[in-house]
Amino acid sequence: MSDAARIAVLASGGGSNFQALVDRFRPVADREIVGVIASREGAGVLERARRAGVASAVPPAGAAVAPAGAAGGEMTTFLLRTLDEWRSDIVVLAGYMKLVPEPLVRAYRGRILNIHPALLPSFGGRGMYGARVHRAVIEAGVRITGATVHFVDEAYDRGPILCQWPVPVLAGDTPEAVAARVLAVEHRILPAAVEALASGAVRLEAERRVRWVREWFDTETFTNREG
Ligand code: GRF
Repeated sequence: MSDAARIAVLASGGGSNFQALVDRFRPVADREIVGVIASREGAGVLERARRAGVASAVPPAGAAVAPAGAAGGEMTTFLLRTLDEWRSDIVVLAGYMKLVPEPLVRAYRGRILNIHPALLPSFGGRGMYGARVHRAVIEAGVRITGATVHFVDEAYDRGPILCQWPVPVLAGDTPEAVAARVLAVEHRILPAAVEALASGAVRLEAERRVRWVREWFDTETFTNREG
């Protein structure tokens, strides 16, 4: 990918990562946040989309999800049709709490990213979301946590890792304190990772190998070298 990129977002919550993407790409001519799919009505991200003038969609209540391995399912059809209508090149899961249906993973393989608020492969997987992640981090006594952006595959939080950034766990930290420190890092790493993919600096090869065509991450300034 290296031309103009149309970026779609899937989210479940307040949408601060969605906002970070909007803020990063609004001034850029050939990057567009084309829409956000919220997993439920009332999600804060919908209000952010409205204010930003970005299209939004919500799956019909009770949309059936096809069992793993099976094709179809109302949810799959809805997601694929919506992303297709928006002519999405890249799909970003920004706090999306549902498992992505396999046909969608296949359709967007190498073009679908997720952000996770810990250093994968630790503290990820089914049931590891929100405050649970940060509580587990504190209980394990690790001194470093962080944020991870990875390509999405068929399992929760398992896909090939694209980039990570560390965050310290400090004495007396609560899950809320860790969450806030990690979230601030998410807002920087996610737009940078999306830009790396959109610009062709990184790509997925043979389904599992992350290949950096050129290094873009400046570890001194913690920014994308290109912007
Ligand atoms: C973030 O910590 C994200 O990593 C996690 O859920 C949170 C979403 O925050 N999966 P927001 O909705 O982007 O504010």
